[in-house]
Amino acid sequence: MKITVVGAGHVGATLAQRIVDQELANELILIDIVEGLPQGKGLDMWESAPISGSDCFVRGTNDYRDTQDSDIVVITAGLPRKPGMSREDLLAKNVEIVKSVTEQAARFSPNSIIIVVSNPLDAMAWTALKVSGFEPHRVMGMAGILDTARYRSFIAMELNVSTRDIQALVLGGHGDAMVPLPRYTMVGGIPLTELLPRERIDAIVERTRKGGAEIVNYLKTGSAYYAPSAAVAEMVEAIVRDKKRILPCAAYLRGEYGFEDIYLGVPIKLGQKGVEQIFELQLTEEEKEALHQSAEGVKNTVAQIKL
Ligand code: NAI
Ligand code: 2OP
Repeated sequence: MKITVVGAGHVGATLAQRIVDQELANELILIDIVEGLPQGKGLDMWESAPISGSDCFVRGTNDYRDTQDSDIVVITAGLPRKPGMSREDLLAKNVEIVKSVTEQAARFSPNSIIIVVSNPLDAMAWTALKVSGFEPHRVMGMAGILDTARYRSFIAMELNVSTRDIQALVLGGHGDAMVPLPRYTMVGGIPLTELLPRERIDAIVERTRKGGAEIVNYLKTGSAYYAPSAAVAEMVEAIVRDKKRILPCAAYLRGEYGFEDIYLGVPIKLGQKGVEQIFELQLTEEEKEALHQSAEGVKNTVAQIKL
């Protein structure tokens, strides 16, 4: 198993360390345009392997030839947000970056599975699909696991219970119009709606929608990376170990939920082939309307892309 992580910044480097620590690959390549950055971080990480007991060989490079025949390519290259910016503000620059990265990834690893992380997420996953020419089940985006993890962490704090006991789902695009689903949220098998009043649930939903901005406002120079990298590692593990996990990820829709030619966060089965199944939920009219609004935002962003 060979994995390439493109972008040796906050998300890319933290993800690489998680892959090494969890021994999710035999070989891990960290690549960036900045000379020395991936080499330095890669070597530092490899020097941590004797301590963690990992045999995942990691090294950094600026040359795509080193990424040849990767099984998984994770794209984290791109600008992050600063306070006051929306994810959509990153569009013009990140389209250019994701386009060039995808061209190289597809050329050197034509059989790989691509996981896109760069923002605006759903539009960047769409860009990677179109540029790579890969089948849609081999191109996906990470967002839903992160958004769901934020939602679950807030519920755990509110109820003072273990995070492990909270099962939940957030649908839609990775933006402020994302759709957390209280009706599909369970706490140790008990519906959340039986444990919290509507106004507390609404407040948690709102905090979840703004979860990315909350971190940006604290950090000021960039965006979140601990929870994002943990979310990507969960996807990588599901693929590497063919776990058939049911996880919310950005997947390419061809009629599901009534949408065409768009990436949106939906529950998928994730295994060694990539997106092995998309699950369609029976939504209420209110939930459908919220998903529709979220999809409109993604469509408007994608409409501005010229490849
Ligand atoms: P960062 O600025 O720390 O790292 C980005 C790295 O990409 C830098 O090292 C930069 O040199 C590199 N890069 C730029 N152009 C490149 C190219 N053409 N080829 C290779 N490398 C290139 O940013 P951070 O925090 O790691 O975030 C990365 C991206 O991920 C951002 O767009 C951010 O918005 C997004 N993100 C998405 C999340 C999600 O839920 N989908 C969560 C967190 C971040
Ligand atoms: C987040 O939600 C930056 O999209 C990223 O933290």
